[in-house]
Amino acid sequence: MKAVILVGGLGTRLRPLTCNTPKPMIPLINQPFIEAMLMRLREQGIDEVVLAVQYLADRFRAALGDGEQLGLKLHIVEEPEPRGTAGAVKNVEHLLDGTTFIFNGDVLTDLDLQGMLAFHREQGSKVTISLTPVEDPTQFGLVEMDGEQRVQRFLEKPRPEDITTNLINAGTYIIEPDVFRYVPPNQHYMFERGLFPVVLQTGDAMFGYPSRAYWTDIGKPQTYLEVHHDILVGKANYHIRGAEIAPRVWAQGDVDIHPSALISGPVVIGAGTKIERGARLIGPTVIGAHCSIGSEATIDAAVLWDGNTIGEGASLRSCVLGHNNQIGAKTVVDGGAIISDNCVIGPDNRFDRAIRIWPGTQLGEKAISF
Ligand code: GDD
Ligand code: MG
Repeated sequence: MKAVILVGGLGTRLRPLTCNTPKPMIPLINQPFIEAMLMRLREQGIDEVVLAVQYLADRFRAALGDGEQLGLKLHIVEEPEPRGTAGAVKNVEHLLDGTTFIFNGDVLTDLDLQGMLAFHREQGSKVTISLTPVEDPTQFGLVEMDGEQRVQRFLEKPRPEDITTNLINAGTYIIEPDVFRYVPPNQHYMFERGLFPVVLQTGDAMFGYPSRAYWTDIGKPQTYLEVHHDILVGKANYHIRGAEIAPRVWAQGDVDIHPSALISGPVVIGAGTKIERGARLIGPTVIGAHCSIGSEATIDAAVLWDGNTIGEGASLRSCVLGHNNQIGAKTVVDGGAIISDNCVIGPDNRFDRAIRIWPGTQLGEKAISF
């Protein structure tokens, strides 16, 4: 069974974390998100995947190659320019034959793909769209169905007054390839604002497949932190790599933890990381590989990627740090702040709101306090 994963977006809402790392390559529990997604697809019977890449395309090639290590056949195809979600699939149409799964590359879900495929076949559907309930459909594509689950209306990013259901497009489709004749070649064209409304007009069979499976779009800073939380507290089904060295404390290789450090799980610690005297790690927290957490520092409900050095007595709470930052002694980072990559933040700074610090920022001692 073949699939296409759409991974060409700019990841704008997750900037500056996506300045150097495309959204599907950002780590989830210290593993590139797309890698875990590919493993999940393989487990569910998909053995050949086309990755439709555009932004920072080389990062995918370097990390995934031809997919052999993951046990599937992978084609990484770069668009000459962003073609939009349906245009991206049109661009790889020559690699498809027969019923195909299409995935948005930023959704974590444990949807039953074989169940969805059986439904698609029973209905003789041309396009089947997985649906999930959400509280606020204005951020998504709203999908209305009739009593037989035929799609009646598709409304991308609806205005609050247009909301008639809480069911949204969950970003997994099964499509019969002949439907791609409606997609103009070599153009920017979207499923959401182009193909789906067209299929509604042509009358081809288009069904919705609602599910209560776990579902999150990881593409916003708040949901990125929440999804870590959900995995670590066991709400989302996800394989956490590493050895459980204490209840709900995972070490992903050699770690050096001072005996006086206090660790309250769920906490994941990457390989080669050092936790110094009196440091406190409070879950749900993930610390990447080759980090150093200084003495008496506190890391609470935070996600740190690889290579971060945290100074003595610093306090990091509800925040995300990208790669290779240095945080000075007694600096406080809190309130949803994002520090991207290669920043040097001096001692005694204080960020306690959802500020975004761009790659390579250098700040001296006591330069910021808010
Ligand atoms: N190759 C390629 N080319 N991929 C693209 C392009 C493009 O031009 N534009 C977007 N993508 C990829 C993104 O990388 C992402 O994986 C996926 O398409 C969806 O794009 P997002 O930018 O994340 O869309 P969204 O989250 O605002 O909305 C979409 O997903 C919602 C569910 O999470 C829509 O499909 C909504 O209808 C849906 O509810
Ligand atoms: Mg998205």
